Amino acid sequence: MASPHTASVLVASNRGPVSYTLDERGELTAKRGGGGLVSGLSAIGPDTDAVWICSALNDADRETVRRTGGALDPADTGGQRVRMLDIDARVHADAYNGIANSVLWFVHHMLYQTPLEPVFDAAFRRQWKAYEEYNRAFAEALAQEAGQGAAVLIQDYHLTLAPLMLRGLRPDLRIGHFSHTPWAPPEYFRMLPDDIAAQVLGGILGADRAAFLTQRWADAFTECCHAVLGPGSASGTRIGVHGLGADADFLRWRAHQPDVNERMAALRQQIGTTPDGRPRKTIVRVDRTELSKNIVRGLLAYEELLESRPEWRERVVHIAFAYPSRQDLAVYRDYTAEVERVATEINSRYGTADWTPVELHVKDDFARSLAAYRLADVALVNPIRDGMNLVAKEVPVVSDGGCALVLSREAGAFEELAEDAVPVNPYDIGGMTAALHQALSMGPGERAERTKRLAAQATALPPARWFLEQLAALEG
Ligand code: F6P
Repeated sequence: MASPHTASVLVASNRGPVSYTLDERGELTAKRGGGGLVSGLSAIGPDTDAVWICSALNDADRETVRRTGGALDPADTGGQRVRMLDIDARVHADAYNGIANSVLWFVHHMLYQTPLEPVFDAAFRRQWKAYEEYNRAFAEALAQEAGQGAAVLIQDYHLTLAPLMLRGLRPDLRIGHFSHTPWAPPEYFRMLPDDIAAQVLGGILGADRAAFLTQRWADAFTECCHAVLGPGSASGTRIGVHGLGADADFLRWRAHQPDVNERMAALRQQIGTTPDGRPRKTIVRVDRTELSKNIVRGLLAYEELLESRPEWRERVVHIAFAYPSRQDLAVYRDYTAEVERVATEINSRYGTADWTPVELHVKDDFARSLAAYRLADVALVNPIRDGMNLVAKEVPVVSDGGCALVLSREAGAFEELAEDAVPVNPYDIGGMTAALHQALSMGPGERAERTKRLAAQATALPPARWFLEQLAALEG
């Protein structure tokens, strides 16, 4: 590990660019993730001394930290300097599953079934202590690694307290915080106990700059500051908006690799042809199986389409990729089971010997996702609430023949894509059914024109520029 106090650019996030698995022989294998931060950080170039601080997420990660002291082998990270923190497994579980994913995620996505939840009791207070400890571990590691006056970009709802903690340890640093989620409106945010609400906001306000994916989320944050901390409370922190876009060069290259072509052929086989020999139309959705993605209501709208407009039977297939997420949480496991149950029910009610109405796949396969993007006639992106939603931006970029985009007005991406999407209220099954019908019926000329404009809008701020813009803004 390079000596402390040298990095001039630092990124901090719970999930790092690489995670490990451990086999029976005790060998560790690294798996690199993608995402905006990875390409963003690599865009600053090899001359800058940059370090990414992340947490060990599982036992294999922890074993890696034990063997390496935390400085990951550059061969595993694509040359990137990464320091992984071995935060005590129980502390991590309470901070990540208990607070970040079961409280803050729920608040910002407005997911509570409020007659019975949330319950902010003694168990919550204990988990909150773990969340503080977890944030402190990041703040201390950042303080150790950062050179004089360095720029630090702290990511997401896992790390809301770290900016203020770091400011206390290192007043010389330029600190930015970025929220990748929506931000709750004040009347929902204030479900949090008053002291906790104040701590979250005050933690982020410890940064020089707090940034969001859309103006809507940025405004909600300032409204919360006003309501909880008082008028003018956010005036010492600059607020910014950076609408992360799709990485067109990478996606177009990746979507034409042989493995994607193979998967397209397999998908075409599954989709099949109508009784009169024409290829069936496809409604594609690709999501992590998140409570906020609204997969079940999407299936219900599709079912209503088959019921109310029988002319679509045998002529359309709904390809639904619902990849596992946060399976440590029972509510996610239950939701995954419900997605499977509803898909099975639709297939048994409407399916025929040579037509499966819903093709549901739950095993993560990026090449197959790209194959589905390329051949989709309609993309269904209907989250009940979403920070941005990159699927909405990626589909138009790689679509072969033009794709109609059915898009929830509650997705951050809607702010940029509304004009050429078919908008939906994600709670309204009838409305989504009508939108699916409209999208399936759209003529090829209009579809192609809209897709072209959507792709231009979707790639306006590619990940590398999204990252560099934030760095530049911190300097200003
Ligand atoms: O998609 C929003 C987001 O906050 C990302 O920024 C972040 O990587 C992800 O959710 C967290 O998901 P996970 O719990 O799988 O790390």
